[in-house]
Amino acid sequence: MKIAVTGTGYVGLVTAVCLAKIGHKVTCIDIDDEKIETLKELKCPIYEEGLQELMQEHQNDIIYTTDYKKSYKENDVIFVCVGTPEREDGTANLNYIYKVCDEIKEYSKSDKVIVIKSTVPIGTNKEIQKYMNKDSDTTFNIVSNPEFLSQGTAVKDTLNASRIVVGTNDKNSKKIMEELYKPLTKPPYNVPYLSMSRESAEMVKYASNNFLALKISYINEIANICEKTGANIDDVALSMGYDQRIGKQFLKAGIGYGGSCFPKDTKALYHFCKDLGYKLQTIEAAIDINILQRQKLIEQAKKDFESLENKKVAILGLTFKPGTDDLRESPAFDNVDILLDYNAIVNVYDPVAIDKFKAIYKNKVNYYHDIDNTIKDCDFVFIMTEWQEIVGYDLNKYKELMKTPIIYDGRNCYDLEKIKEAGIKYYSIGR
Ligand SMILES: NC(=O)c1ccc[n+]([C@@H]2O[C@H](COP(=O)([O-])OP(=O)(O)OC[C@H]3O[C@@H](n4cnc5c(N)ncnc54)[C@H](O)[C@@H]3O)[C@@H](O)[C@H]2O)c1
Repeated sequence: MKIAVTGTGYVGLVTAVCLAKIGHKVTCIDIDDEKIETLKELKCPIYEEGLQELMQEHQNDIIYTTDYKKSYKENDVIFVCVGTPEREDGTANLNYIYKVCDEIKEYSKSDKVIVIKSTVPIGTNKEIQKYMNKDSDTTFNIVSNPEFLSQGTAVKDTLNASRIVVGTNDKNSKKIMEELYKPLTKPPYNVPYLSMSRESAEMVKYASNNFLALKISYINEIANICEKTGANIDDVALSMGYDQRIGKQFLKAGIGYGGSCFPKDTKALYHFCKDLGYKLQTIEAAIDINILQRQKLIEQAKKDFESLENKKVAILGLTFKPGTDDLRESPAFDNVDILLDYNAIVNVYDPVAIDKFKAIYKNKVNYYHDIDNTIKDCDFVFIMTEWQEIVGYDLNKYKELMKTPIIYDGRNCYDLEKIKEAGIKYYSIGR
């Protein structure tokens, strides 16, 4: 089976490398020359645990190329993993997908199975099938195979996936997909394989992401009530999690979700439903709560200081979560922007994403590669990401190095007793 994966971002690259790991020969296509050159040198352009090692281990099984014409002509199964970002009106932008479809249609000389891994609104696969097969001599069968990996644990999440979901509309593609994923469904992986209609597969992806976003917004709202009542969200969430119907995960209160999926996928489903004439009230609430949650630290700092002008602020952590260099929709942006609007002086630190942040903020903020220098002489600290470097930082140093040891912690990194012992003024979420 000749497999191509188009779009070598977080999903495409991990998919390709893991397909090689289970025994396939894979061609990786991207339009980004620089990315492909980096990949050819067997360097991983993204920060993702274990990916670079696996790329090197399977260097003879993967080709990296920008030559999509040749690749679409030569491969039988094409995984589409390009972005589906948010449009200004909140709907999903499918332009990248259709661009790839046009290219495949133009350069394919034999029948193809096209596997849509990108997150797309319900009904998209069927539309693509109609679009591709119109006035075409070759047959294109479109398969929905949504991706559930989490950035930071993407390789593990793929090889030991919670489930593989495959939506097909014809027997041949169904068989091909079963064959392709067979190694993952057997020991040692034993990943559950779920076969269904394309519409159901598309829906599973949105329903899952939206449920997780809802869970985060729910626990954040409970945290906000904890703050008003003296309850402690850590105790509340821990105890809730023991109920298996609720589960322990995604009950961590904080300054809201970010990243390239939850913000856009919640809005995309909300707008998709709106177009169907259905008001998705739960998700509307989750989105609204998340917007407010991102302002929590700033609101508290504004209460505590008469003015934020010329205050020296350290931002610890820039990515939307630890374990990834992805800055997309990170709450750090909202907070840095507001602080700059108030004419605060902003120092930033992140263990992996400083250069990416620098490319956006240029000389508007000060960049550091260690926490000591970031917090030195600062009036207060904002914690945005629970990187281990930040969680494990010596609390005494805040008192030693800062002008005034005040921490606004958006990720509840520290033990309240230890913070008290260290003599730090501390605000965290729901505690
Ligand atoms: N990132 C995640 O954690 C995650 C998880 C599950 C699902 N998804 C979904 O998977 C899709 C991809 O997400 P991502 O985060 O990997 O995106 P990404 O932005 O990291 O990568 C997309 C890649 O596609 C390339 N590309 C664009 N047009 C192309 C073309 N015509 N031909 C070849 N390559 C092209 C880009 O250069 C880029 O490298 C999205 O729909 C996303 O919602 C993402």
